[in-house]
Amino acid sequence: MSSKKPKNSKSPAKSNPMWGGQFASGPAGIMAKINASIDFDKKLYAQDIKGSIAHCAMLAASGIISKKEAADITDGLHKIKSEIDSGRFTFKEALEDIHMNIEARLAELIGDVAGKLHTARSRNDQVALDLRMYVRDMSLTIDAFIKALQLALITRAEEFSSAIMPGFTHLQTAQPVTLGHHLMAYVEMFGRDRARLKNLLANMDECPLGSAALAGTSFPIDRMLVAKTLGFARPTANSLDSVSDRDFALEFLSAAAITAMHLSRLSEELIIWSSAPFGFIKLSDLFSSGSSIMPQKRNPDAAELVRGKTGRITGSLMSMLMTMKGLPLAYNKDMQEDKEPVFDASLQWQMVLSAMTGMIYDFTADKKRMHALANQGYSTATDLADWLVKNLKMPFRQAHHTTAKIVKLATDKKCTLSQLSLTQMQTIEKRITKEIFNVLTVEQSVASRISYGGTAPARVKEAIFAAKKKYL
Ligand code: ARG
Repeated sequence: MSSKKPKNSKSPAKSNPMWGGQFASGPAGIMAKINASIDFDKKLYAQDIKGSIAHCAMLAASGIISKKEAADITDGLHKIKSEIDSGRFTFKEALEDIHMNIEARLAELIGDVAGKLHTARSRNDQVALDLRMYVRDMSLTIDAFIKALQLALITRAEEFSSAIMPGFTHLQTAQPVTLGHHLMAYVEMFGRDRARLKNLLANMDECPLGSAALAGTSFPIDRMLVAKTLGFARPTANSLDSVSDRDFALEFLSAAAITAMHLSRLSEELIIWSSAPFGFIKLSDLFSSGSSIMPQKRNPDAAELVRGKTGRITGSLMSMLMTMKGLPLAYNKDMQEDKEPVFDASLQWQMVLSAMTGMIYDFTADKKRMHALANQGYSTATDLADWLVKNLKMPFRQAHHTTAKIVKLATDKKCTLSQLSLTQMQTIEKRITKEIFNVLTVEQSVASRISYGGTAPARVKEAIFAAKKKYL
């Protein structure tokens, strides 16, 4: 590289008003640009102000600042909050981030006493607190979104608790199931996604404020009080850990990626089911789009986008893991990159949940078509084998072989298992009786799956009842 200064390195005249005491000049243009986070971290203003008010009250309660000073600071912070709420606040890149933008404005409003707010605090513990509170707020919001999706799934599962469709493994017809049972499978997945949110909320229920830059502070602060004021169970136990780790955000992003993966699988099924060869369901105009060239097309775009956004959400998790993986303790500026993945994933997570909830209420199902396809592919072959085991006391392995031969016979005759005659079946196993016809239809097959968690309509209705109690 040449030693010539790049064009954009012309410095602004003044050094940073907040920390520039020992700096003769301000940053190079590109330095100011790469250093500033205000464009995105302004999203944290409510959390930042809430944290500052709690810190200020504690400083006064501990006798570190006077009651009057605390009252002035708090008034100023409330004013700033309403300025930002109403869009009257001017954010400045030169002030780098949300913390310094707010503190500088506070000084404009109340004068030098504003500088006392930062006693016994650093931006390092401040930002750790702000992001933690943001993740906490978002986790609660997203929990409500997942719950709404569960309600949609349960509502439709109730409607389809006896609607027979093919169940698949390897996307090959396996055994008949009900659409209600299939939808309820996702209610369980989303239930665990909600449990992950609950767990991460419990894990991060500690307040980092008071850790200061990295080592704690010599001021007689009361961390218990701040933790309590901000709704945390307790303060964090180690100041270095408090300002260094972002595992709470990583847990949040992991939970996001897992939910997105669940949503993506469901999307994939909606896409397959709504294709002409399947024809199980139809999504209305509300969730589809047409093709600009092929007039017959109805594309499941919303489902495809939910599936597509899974890549983006998982990308946020990967981005943050990579940012964190090589950092020595304690704070490093790399960690400023922790915010955008969290903000973006939070937004996308809500969007994919809402879109899926909409699609679940929207689709119509073709029960006849699902039933007809459940009948194809010898989906009751296992029922036949089980009958041989129960009634002829055959070992299951042998029953499997015998059944395979009967399936071959039906394939040759181009009919379903229940369409074979008794005599035809007896050419393969002479001990078979007419009782076999009690287990060969898809209705009989589904109704017989009464084991706990099975697809029998009676069991599905019980599962719906239990899920309503557990989740709604
Ligand atoms: N904007 C910074 C961030 O997001 C705040 C903390 C800055 N701390 C520092 N020592 N420069 O991480």
